[in-house]
Amino acid sequence: LLVDKGNHRHFMEKEIHEQPEVISHTLANYLNFADGTVADFDLPFDFAKIERLAISACGTAYLAGLIGKYWLERYARLPVDIDIASEFRYREMPLPKNSAALFISQSGETADTLASLRYCREEGIPISAIVNVRESTIARESDGIFPTLAGPEIGVASTKAFTCQLSVLAALTLKAAKARGTISPEEEQALVRELSEAPRYASQALKLSASIEKVARELSHVRHVLYLGRDTNYPLALEGALKLKEISYIHAEGYAAGELKHGPIALIDEQMPVIVIAPHDRIFEKTVSNMQEVAARGGRIVLITDEKGAQNATLETLETIVLPDVPEFVAPIIYALPIQMLAYHTAVIMGTDVDQPRNLAKSVTVE
Ligand code: G6P
Repeated sequence: LLVDKGNHRHFMEKEIHEQPEVISHTLANYLNFADGTVADFDLPFDFAKIERLAISACGTAYLAGLIGKYWLERYARLPVDIDIASEFRYREMPLPKNSAALFISQSGETADTLASLRYCREEGIPISAIVNVRESTIARESDGIFPTLAGPEIGVASTKAFTCQLSVLAALTLKAAKARGTISPEEEQALVRELSEAPRYASQALKLSASIEKVARELSHVRHVLYLGRDTNYPLALEGALKLKEISYIHAEGYAAGELKHGPIALIDEQMPVIVIAPHDRIFEKTVSNMQEVAARGGRIVLITDEKGAQNATLETLETIVLPDVPEFVAPIIYALPIQMLAYHTAVIMGTDVDQPRNLAKSVTVE
């Protein structure tokens, strides 16, 4: 298989820029944009009949699953257990008969995810998987697959596979909500329409390079970074920190903003920038009060928000990265882009091997 970088310096940069297109392809596989409905695709279980869903994955795919949990529980009222696959495989979790399993894997070959799948097979529950490689082992051993249409991902740090996994999870959330009767046809239509705008918002997010490069120059001088967010921005904070660690080798931690005072606040000083992901949503004010706690201790804040958030956050920041105002349901897909770009530009400035970071592998097929 021959894939080249086109006009880009790195595969990662190319893959970041492909996102509007691949998100669009992926969503179109699961949604009917013309009439604003969820498509009629096959599932190996009935969302109306299951009482729990167990999700298991590794790395960035795990973080996509964590966002999926917030969505499925909120919109479809479906309780979701989510585990890191290396924990799931050994923790002997009881799986009630009326539950189903969902595995998420770009490669479809990750050893721990595959072992978790086989554990569920032994337990006799229906198995589904979100995979990017359709010929993979995980795809073959599943009862049903939900492909991401990201195309080959070469950069070791996952980018477009992540936003395509989120796109599938968003569509599955609507499928589940419809089956479980937790959304009306009008709500279904409104949410499908919101998702249909995701590629356009993603293109707008890609234009933020200038403010992101400015922050990247700051980050290239620091040793530690704290990422904060609430609700679906919490898994994104974890993903932002993971991306920075993976390719720039800066020590970064992601935290739920509300946990700040239970530990990480002790670390705050001028040396450790705090990146806060906070669109102007239901809990924006709560996150602002966390930022005030950071500012009061001399912490320097990078705020990733939308236009409304930028107007309402009366705080001094090192930099504010302003995205367009996007509907809450779509926001996690869009906010993934600035955090990927931030890690990318930081790594480029620091001169690391962006596509092949040290000690990491694209696909971890050994335990
Ligand atoms: C490795 C990669 C990550 C990826 C993880 C899970 O750690 O470097 O980018 O998220 O494996 O891989 P999978 O193929 O199962 O999604």
